[in-house]
Amino acid sequence: MKSLIGFLSSLVLIASAISPASSSSVANKLIECIANNNINPSSFQTIFNPESSLFSLLLQSRVQNLRYINSTTKPLLILTPSDDTQIQSALLCSREQGIEIRARCGGHDYAGISYLSDKPYIVIDLFNLNEVQVDVKEETAWVQSGAQLGELYYAIARQSTHLAFPAGLCPTVGVGGHFGGGGFGTLVRKYGLAADNVIDAYLMDARGQRFAHDVHEDLFVRILLLNVGGGDDKKKKTVQANFQALFLGTKDRVIPLMNKSFPELGLKAENCTIWKMMLEEDVPIVILEPLGGKMNKIPESYTPFPHRKGHLYNIQYLVKWDKNGKEEEERHLEWMKRLYDYMEPHVSKSPRAAYLNYRDLDIGMNSAGGKTSFSEASVWGQRYFRDNFKRLTEVKGMFDPENFFRNEQSIPLLHK
Ligand SMILES: *[C@@H]1O[C@H](CO)[C@@H](O)[C@H](O)[C@H]1NC(C)=O
Ligand SMILES: *[C@@H]1O[C@H](CO)[C@@H](O)[C@H](O)[C@H]1NC(C)=O
Ligand SMILES: *[C@@H]1O[C@H](CO)[C@@H](O)[C@H](O)[C@H]1NC(C)=O
Repeated sequence: MKSLIGFLSSLVLIASAISPASSSSVANKLIECIANNNINPSSFQTIFNPESSLFSLLLQSRVQNLRYINSTTKPLLILTPSDDTQIQSALLCSREQGIEIRARCGGHDYAGISYLSDKPYIVIDLFNLNEVQVDVKEETAWVQSGAQLGELYYAIARQSTHLAFPAGLCPTVGVGGHFGGGGFGTLVRKYGLAADNVIDAYLMDARGQRFAHDVHEDLFVRILLLNVGGGDDKKKKTVQANFQALFLGTKDRVIPLMNKSFPELGLKAENCTIWKMMLEEDVPIVILEPLGGKMNKIPESYTPFPHRKGHLYNIQYLVKWDKNGKEEEERHLEWMKRLYDYMEPHVSKSPRAAYLNYRDLDIGMNSAGGKTSFSEASVWGQRYFRDNFKRLTEVKGMFDPENFFRNEQSIPLLHK
């Protein structure tokens, strides 16, 4: 089975009644510029400004990390494009007005950087661009970057009982961010990452120019540990290990395999003081996603995602809490930091690896002033991309020399 394909497009706006008097002048200039640029202004459906009754609802609808649900930094506008030309004018006009953009697909970025910024910014929410075209004969598909993984899987399943696309488990994760950061799920050991199965893409640069097949060759774009409590006995706590797995075969083959492999899941019981730490928290979750298989055969430089041969697991650390408030938040984050430190001796070193799609701003950020040196950025860049980081900065220089597409951990320009 050849895998299907994905692609990243880009996106933009919706226009409805906007009251110019109440929007900020920057937002107004932007809207004016978009109207002037757009071939057919009536093709815009809606541009949401903060006065719009739908603004908060729309903004919050894809805030997946509730720590940011009441964030005081809000975009000047939310644009929900339904075609390329709208994206083009949004990019051109934001650049002209010196406004940052945040492109949002599913809103799952851990640090919320698809919808937050401390600079004046707009959110380009791609949810209208969610088309999936499956070509069963060719065993390929075109998917727009605003589609969610569940929409992609559904579109494939409707047309084929045997084709699949290797990507993540969570159905509301957006295709754009997921593929851009690598993207793995239950099929990773057999077929590699989502990004490994992308064979073509349309991209848009800061001038709104669309690139397709002729893109530069250098431009490339789970064990679940839960503290489940003690049932009726409220004081008792129990740690449960859930194995979320997918085996491509029949049950008479998987049982002996599990019997053989299970004891080597990487956690040796006598060494597992991690259980004690897990019991300190109310809802801690540690997910170990197995690598290996096909991942060992794909070279480190094939995509930006470098963690290939020799890596056993991709580990995801999560903690959830119910009560709102600063103290509560700090308590849980402090536990998370201790857990992260506790794991240090057991995980990859020099540098300790990180997965872009499990965003972690604590490992370092671009400087607020906009100029970050290669060595400063390498502190986090090497963790996400290892030796591919240098190459990414070179590609960045070629395709975005003004550093228009930027955020806390965007690839920086190399400053001589
Ligand atoms: C966000 O604000 C709402 C309304 O004021 C409040 O009920 C809720 O607790 C807040 N959520 C967080 C995570 O602070
Ligand atoms: C697991 O492997 C052991 C040792 O080879 C064997 O004795 C046992 O019957 C196996 N159990 C299952 C459920 O296959
Ligand atoms: C695991 O536990 C055993 C027995 O206590 C000990 O000898 C060994 O050093 C531990 N291994 C690690 C990696 O902590």
